[in-house]
Amino acid sequence: MRIDEGFTPEQQKTWAELYRRQLPRVEKWAASEYLEGFSLLDMPSEGIPSLEYLTSKIDPRTGWKVVRTHTRYSDADEWYDQMIQKNFIVTDYMRSWEELDWTPEPDMFHDIFGHLPYFTLPRYTEMFELFAPAYLAASNDNQREAVRRLAWFSTEFGIKIENGEKKIFGTGLMSGGDEMDKVMEPDFPLIPFSVENVISKHKVVYEQHDQLFVFDAIDDVAAQLTEYFATF
Ligand SMILES: [Fe+2]
Repeated sequence: MRIDEGFTPEQQKTWAELYRRQLPRVEKWAASEYLEGFSLLDMPSEGIPSLEYLTSKIDPRTGWKVVRTHTRYSDADEWYDQMIQKNFIVTDYMRSWEELDWTPEPDMFHDIFGHLPYFTLPRYTEMFELFAPAYLAASNDNQREAVRRLAWFSTEFGIKIENGEKKIFGTGLMSGGDEMDKVMEPDFPLIPFSVENVISKHKVVYEQHDQLFVFDAIDDVAAQLTEYFATF
């Protein structure tokens, strides 16, 4: 079954409306990897996809599985413990109708629509799989915080340049409504993605960003992460 019948009509309606609002933004601005994954994942537009359906699209391609959590905002330890087992956790919380354009907390629309298209692509999961072992290998809080920030400013809020054009890479922007519009303004401040630049930046979780980091290729990000995490 493609749609999860376990959610209320109100929640299904919220999914459908968010999908309808985000689709044109994504088609215009998303990075090529996201668009490729979006088409492979083939999510229903009219209601919340079932985890069985999503896993059936992802697992054969990358070995990742989608699992449900009842935690509204999972802490990093739970998150990384699941990640090391190639389980991507999806919350059962859905934003309210009043929060359609922006929600400070990641909800299931973010987890599914934002993240899961990428999990159909080995060249994405190879990069993503660098974070959990590094987090678990970290020997102090500074290193753990560095892993969280590097993940935040690449996978959640990264910006990519493709053929000289700015593209949205981060999943938090992909599901985030009007923050995507703001970031796509021509004068939005962008800084080159590097380990040094990212770990010196103050991390903001519950507010929209005033500057973000930009890179040309997933491979470049992966190479920098590999080199830095090897020092742990
Ligand atoms: Fe996320």
